[in-house]
Amino acid sequence: MCGIVGYVGPRQASGLLVEGLRRLEYRGYDSAGITILGPDGDLHTVKRAGKLDELDRAIAVDRPAGTCGIGHTRWATHGPPTRDNAHPHTSADGSIALVHNGIIENAGTLRTKLQAEGVVFRSETDTEVVVHLVDRLWVKGGTLEDAVAKALEQVIGAYGIAVVSSRDPNKIVVARNGSPLLLGVGNDGEVLVGSDAAAVIAHTRNVVYLDDGDYAVLTPDGYRTYHLRQGPVQRQVHRVTWDLEAIEKGGFEHFMLKEIFEQPRSLEDVMRGRLLEEEGAARLGGVTVSDADLQGIERIVLTACGTSWHSALIGEYMLEELARIPTKVEYASEFRYKNPVVDEKTLVIVISQSGETADTLAALREARRRGAKVMGIVNTVGSTIARETDFGVHLHAGPEIGVASTKAFTSQVAALALFTLYMARRRSLSILEGRKLVAALQALPGQVTEILQQNDRIRELAKVYQDAPNVLYLGRGYQFPVALEGALKLKEVSYIHAEGYPAAEMKHGPIALIDENMPVVFLAPRDGVYHKVVSNIEEVKARDGQVIAVVNNGAEELLGIVDHFIQIPETHPALLPILTVIPLQLLAYHIALLRGCDVDQPRNLAKSVTVE
Ligand code: G6P
Repeated sequence: MCGIVGYVGPRQASGLLVEGLRRLEYRGYDSAGITILGPDGDLHTVKRAGKLDELDRAIAVDRPAGTCGIGHTRWATHGPPTRDNAHPHTSADGSIALVHNGIIENAGTLRTKLQAEGVVFRSETDTEVVVHLVDRLWVKGGTLEDAVAKALEQVIGAYGIAVVSSRDPNKIVVARNGSPLLLGVGNDGEVLVGSDAAAVIAHTRNVVYLDDGDYAVLTPDGYRTYHLRQGPVQRQVHRVTWDLEAIEKGGFEHFMLKEIFEQPRSLEDVMRGRLLEEEGAARLGGVTVSDADLQGIERIVLTACGTSWHSALIGEYMLEELARIPTKVEYASEFRYKNPVVDEKTLVIVISQSGETADTLAALREARRRGAKVMGIVNTVGSTIARETDFGVHLHAGPEIGVASTKAFTSQVAALALFTLYMARRRSLSILEGRKLVAALQALPGQVTEILQQNDRIRELAKVYQDAPNVLYLGRGYQFPVALEGALKLKEVSYIHAEGYPAAEMKHGPIALIDENMPVVFLAPRDGVYHKVVSNIEEVKARDGQVIAVVNNGAEELLGIVDHFIQIPETHPALLPILTVIPLQLLAYHIALLRGCDVDQPRNLAKSVTVE
């Protein structure tokens, strides 16, 4: 969602800010802007609706000079994506400018109050109230940070903000509550701020993650961190382990394709050092709970959103089948508003690529409030979810930039398999079964490479179905969540309506849709329900449906029945989703490309949904 960047130091800021915003583009946005403190002592704001190229063109005309500034990419929540609603927002006299991520919940009340005091609003955003509050609460002779801290006392909601002012120049004040924000501590008297590390990584790897309730003052002399209630605080400097290359396309046309092709490596990375061949078990250094505590777990609740929710569904099948622990999956957005049955004997596992999804974070907090142990399966090191969980497993998949999640999904499923093995070997799984699973996990990267070699064939298949108005995805058991994920991938990037269903449920509704124009993608690898799925395929063919099937190598009996097939190698049934999803990712990618869609930044979507 929205992105924040800020710079103060010796260099010209405008180019650096736009470059930082470009690195945040992947999060999704629909307008952008910057404010620079000029050599004349005034603030200069340039903002535009649309993509960063629009902003770049405007900057080329205005050429704002100055070495201190803030920038923002906005994903509209309150008010449409117009120039007026774009950030930065400024005070009436133009002496304060502010950018904001998140949602101010009491914006309506504050707006009414400020309007009654004579403030004229120029946008429909919730953000604008904050800049006017800072303005009104600024005590003559006081500092920007004091005014910001006072304003925040009145604000309810989620925010990451960055503020500059010509009244207290060469300074950026930033604050966070619920929306991610980090400082980039550069060399040579420069300090940056970003809503994620991608915004600052070109200039420094040393970052300071702010906690909720923190604010910080950035000047060319360094930075100071405070907590709104506790006063001055020290926050640790972390070193980002990945480099710029990880957030560049590396010769691929799109991030989505690059990330699909990175999966052999990301799978190796999630398993590295974690498999115990002899014992047929897993070692998880981040699962820092005692065996006694693990034994005490009576049930597991997995919670997540989007693609991560699909990997949670696969985790449910694994944990029940192999570790024999009653497991339930909840949408994070539903979990928090129910009265979930969760207590100290429940392990709640939150799954998130970004570690910042607002609903997932809220579910985590609700679970903790109810006394559950909370584990994270998170990709982004240092993210809020990673920091707030009791313990967890990092994916080490590297930054995922394509909005449609691909490599994070397969790494999540692999991490869930590792955790299942970890639990199952402490409970009922035999060493022999454990070793089989370990061997199957080790074979995955090579098998994924094999599937990726069919890319050209899948591109050809995409040509056949690029104009389909609807596509149905069907699978059973472990393949049901893959059907959901395949449908989601297609919807997200190609805007074709697609639905995933448990294959047998087809007869309770979707079968009515089947005719010669309805492509049906079947996940039909050889597993415990294979023959049942073959019957479902026959049912679709009997109604003239077009069938594309993902099958195991050598499934000759199916090849004559289906219209198209993609073959994948054999593996443990619990790991099959990691293989069957790959052709579906590629199919969605190629169909979207053929339809001329913006694959990496599909309309209306955001990479990390940091509002409820
Ligand atoms: C957004 C993204 C999806 C992602 C979901 C959950 O909707 O577009 O790709 O699966 O959020 O994100 P998370 O970072 O929590 O896994």
